Amino acid sequence: MKVTGRAAARARRTGFGMARPMQRPASRVAARRLTAPQARGKLTPMHLGVPREIAPGEQRVALVPETVAKLVRGGMQVLVEHGAGDAAFHPDEAYEAAGATIVPTAPALYAAADVIVKVQRPLVRPDIAIDELSLLRPGATLVAVLQPLVYPELVQRLDERGVMAFSLDAIPRIARAQAMDVLSSMSTVAGYRAMLIAAASLPRFFPLLMTAAGTVTPARVFVIGAGVAGLQAIATAKRLGAVVQAFDTRPAVREQVQSLGATFVEVELGAHDTETAGGYAKELSEDAHRREMEVIAERVRDADVVITTALVPGKRAPLLITADTVAQMKPGSVIVDLAGEFGGNCELSKPGDVVIASGVTIHAPLNLPASMPVHASQMFSRNVAAFLALIVKDGALAPDFEDPIVKDSLVTRVPQPAG
Ligand code: NAI
Repeated sequence: MKVTGRAAARARRTGFGMARPMQRPASRVAARRLTAPQARGKLTPMHLGVPREIAPGEQRVALVPETVAKLVRGGMQVLVEHGAGDAAFHPDEAYEAAGATIVPTAPALYAAADVIVKVQRPLVRPDIAIDELSLLRPGATLVAVLQPLVYPELVQRLDERGVMAFSLDAIPRIARAQAMDVLSSMSTVAGYRAMLIAAASLPRFFPLLMTAAGTVTPARVFVIGAGVAGLQAIATAKRLGAVVQAFDTRPAVREQVQSLGATFVEVELGAHDTETAGGYAKELSEDAHRREMEVIAERVRDADVVITTALVPGKRAPLLITADTVAQMKPGSVIVDLAGEFGGNCELSKPGDVVIASGVTIHAPLNLPASMPVHASQMFSRNVAAFLALIVKDGALAPDFEDPIVKDSLVTRVPQPAG
């Protein structure tokens, strides 16, 4: 395939693209042939770039080879930074076999890509001399988890730089967008992983056991916040054989909790409306919060494991377990606080750390999805592909700015360069 126009100019500048043409197996060359729509319209194939994630501890990659193969078949040219998939167990060779081109460095990748797809927001790492924001070309498009409400200054810098950015976490939670919902995918991983962390640090069994040494009673698990992560934590605890209770301020959750075989804990929250039109939790009134805390304190005291996942968008995570309540728990109990990134649901949580207080082990892990990079990347990658299918038509970027999914996820918009 002949590289033309902007892509050729970039390839000349970066030295990438012309490399090792004689070494490519015939099948890979075939995979890069123009698709029918491109041949008809003589379009330059869109160059999609997948950089290596640079956030410390990040092991995920935005696109896995399985998805790359589909995108290449759809007419895109996929560029993958050398080593981008290593931590998720996808070597360069797997990407090449899927039809991608491996680019040796981040600067070369950013210079050559029209659209960059990433897991984490652009970061600056002076220790490895990479400033991802400065690498983004003016006129390029970025698709990543940008958390625009948490990092408004990043949005401003992307805008100043002339980058069109889509934030995957801002995609509305509507039925049509389910296949693109990275928040649900990553919460699924986090909820599962949180329960395994609890099981591994609990000095007791989870299931009921009838042994020659007598009967072992099952662990008692209490899950606070039964959104996507909480429901997955409940399902995992049930599979491990625990007796599970759960609570959420949104009454709609009751049935979902019960359908997993757990008991929904009732709290009289008054006439307060606890859910937004978008299905998210609202902050509770002071009175409702006090009532909730009383019931939580009671249940937490009886529990061997407490998993907290309670979040209210745009706010600090609600404080639900006080130091006093922890002091009343059974020694050996375990708390896993998944709200650490937003301040934590437990007063004693140290985000990113493990604390032991009154014999209770309190985990507040950060970025749990990164600790299960194979399936986290696979799910993320499929979500990205579903989103790209919405904004790419016939191999070219063509977002419909009136579409609610595009509207909500678009955080900066710049005029599209022609061609
Ligand atoms: P989230 O991560 O924002 O919050 C976690 C949970 O904490 C929520 O269930 C919330 O109600 C709960 N919570 C907040 N404050 C609390 C408090 N004080 N005490 C106890 N619990 C508290 O939620 P997530 O998992 O992102 O889900 C948000 C919504 O999106 C849900 O309604 C979910 O059903 C909906 N959703 C819709 C989808 C779709 O239709 N495409 C896909 C996935 C989720």
